[in-house]
Amino acid sequence: MAVIVLLGAPGAGKGTQAPVIAEHLGVPILGSGDLLRTAVAAGTALGREADEYMSRGQLVPDATIVRVFLDRLEQPDATAGAVLDGFPRTRVQAQALDVELVGAGRRVDRAVLVDVPTEELISRMANRRICTANGHVYNLASNPPEQAGICDLDGSELVLREDDKEETVRARMQQQIPPLLDVVDHYRRNGVLATVDGRLPIEAVGEAVIAALDGDAGAAG
Ligand code: AP5
Repeated sequence: MAVIVLLGAPGAGKGTQAPVIAEHLGVPILGSGDLLRTAVAAGTALGREADEYMSRGQLVPDATIVRVFLDRLEQPDATAGAVLDGFPRTRVQAQALDVELVGAGRRVDRAVLVDVPTEELISRMANRRICTANGHVYNLASNPPEQAGICDLDGSELVLREDDKEETVRARMQQQIPPLLDVVDHYRRNGVLATVDGRLPIEAVGEAVIAALDGDAGAAG
């Protein structure tokens, strides 16, 4: 059983590294952004509410995301553990997750921070493309698809994410980095934080993430 929290600023590479951890541990990925984008695409009440915040680069209110995300965590496929990509994003969310896990006799086993300077994040997001079928992630500069505009894995069209337009990206950085630092502090105090250098090439970041999972978090964080 392993509950792994993947932390990082917008564009740091959480979505790129989550499958590496999921494969290493044999657990599913629970992505809060994916969950919300699915709700937006389906036009549900949650999606309509989330879209108001996401389109402005703001965090969805804690009360909404906590309810939805913890419901997802209770699904049978996550009983053996999960990689949490994008949740928690605030101290309130981190505390709610702790309470939920303790109630189920579980805990966050490791929080891995993928650390990248802000200037690099902005250019990464301008070059990011995601596939319309499954959200597979590419980058026109660092990780291009074999055929322009087409997903290597499922053949669907690659598009710019709605919230990757420059003004929204800047708003996301400004509004989301301060609460991220609170969450990092929460896990550092709990002795489960490990930090990896997210400026390295994608494969090297993956190797560092796996080493951080297997190593001593107290020493690495
Ligand atoms: P979410 O989908 O979680 O977005 P995010 O955290 O902003 O993260 P991103 O998906 O933008 O980036 P990433 O770190 O996954 O990077 P990626 O691997 O794609 O959330 C979207 C929105 O939903 C939020 O803004 C908020 O409104 C809402 N939301 C979600 N969760 C919430 C919560 N808990 N509470 C409240 N609101 C919430 O990589 C980025 C690019 O860089 C790609 O092109 C990739 O190919 C490239 N890349 C990756 N690694 C490297 C590398 N090492 N070198 C070079 N390029 C790289």
